[in-house]
Amino acid sequence: MKAATSAAADVPLALLEMPPAALGARDVRVSVRAVGVNPVDWKMRAGGPLRLAHRFLGPGGPLVVGVDFAGVVTEAGPGADLAVGARVVGGTDFSRKQRGSYADEVVVRDEQCAVLPADVSFERAACLPVAAVTPWISLTDHAHVVPGSRVLVLGASGGVGLFALSLSKMLGAFVAGVCSTRNVEVVERFGDVAIDYTRGDALTMARAHGPYDLVLYAIGTDVYPLDRAIALLTPSGTVDLAVPTPEDYLAIAFARQVTTVLGRPNRARLAPLVDALARGDLEPIIQATYPLADAEEAHRVSKAGKVVGKLLLVP
Ligand SMILES: NC(=O)c1ccc[n+]([C@@H]2O[C@H](COP(=O)([O-])OP(=O)(O)OC[C@H]3O[C@@H](n4cnc5c(N)ncnc54)[C@H](OP(=O)(O)O)[C@@H]3O)[C@@H](O)[C@H]2O)c1
Repeated sequence: MKAATSAAADVPLALLEMPPAALGARDVRVSVRAVGVNPVDWKMRAGGPLRLAHRFLGPGGPLVVGVDFAGVVTEAGPGADLAVGARVVGGTDFSRKQRGSYADEVVVRDEQCAVLPADVSFERAACLPVAAVTPWISLTDHAHVVPGSRVLVLGASGGVGLFALSLSKMLGAFVAGVCSTRNVEVVERFGDVAIDYTRGDALTMARAHGPYDLVLYAIGTDVYPLDRAIALLTPSGTVDLAVPTPEDYLAIAFARQVTTVLGRPNRARLAPLVDALARGDLEPIIQATYPLADAEEAHRVSKAGKVVGKLLLVP
């Protein structure tokens, strides 16, 4: 198999030929057709806690980055509930000793994959795992959003943000999104109201559309202060942090309204999102698609922090 590997924090990704990973009884081998790029992929390369966790919990060998994949099952363990030939979308998990998804094949447990209908492309599906599962957990498990709920998305034009807008609408909520001028149009297309952070203080402007049952941070509390977001909540509202800092954990210990979200994909979480894609309730924006060999360039673009929607790789 061919995989994009990271030798060290500041060394460019290298495409390596690796021996195929072993297949467990409930595992499937998937021929990867499209890979979604997420900021965690390049954060993982840096020498911080994520890389350390990978060293202790991961599969050993070179670090193959990436989580999201869509492709075709080419081999199934005897206890796996997916057949060879099934079209699937899923996410890898290094804590299960699995290599990442920047590769031409992955080996994962069956329950990490959801089946794709024939009319859902691998490219659109590969946008979902981390970027759509994260706001889905936030909206459903954490904030229990129902028709008529009010949601505010901070960082509304990125991968997580745009899915947060569409999923809020799908659940019948009102949703406002904070973005810059160039993204007002796209945020208004997927959500109800765009709040342009270049035109004034975003949280002050957001007050006019609240109070909110959920304020979802797809950006750090260094950009939008946590105490000011808490002040925008209904009495039972929730602030959910996708990018928590160590200081935020202290705040969480004292503020019952604040939670953190970890968008770990699995079948149960992906299946309703695949259905939404098939129905047209989710419409991913793919800013650019790169060959796997150009993953380094995809990371350069993602790190610049201006992506609208998703970046993809194709092996
Ligand atoms: N906890 C989890 O499980 C989890 C899951 C997914 C993502 N994350 C984290 O969440 C963050 C967002 O992920 P992503 O995939 O959405 O990233 P992304 O696609 O790279 O987000 C880029 C977007 O951020 C917007 N942005 C930058 N500065 C902003 C500001 N001051 N106010 C509002 N928007 C701003 C940019 O819009 P403008 O150009 O208009 O500024 C751009 O469209 C990342 O830090 C990622 O690591 C965490």
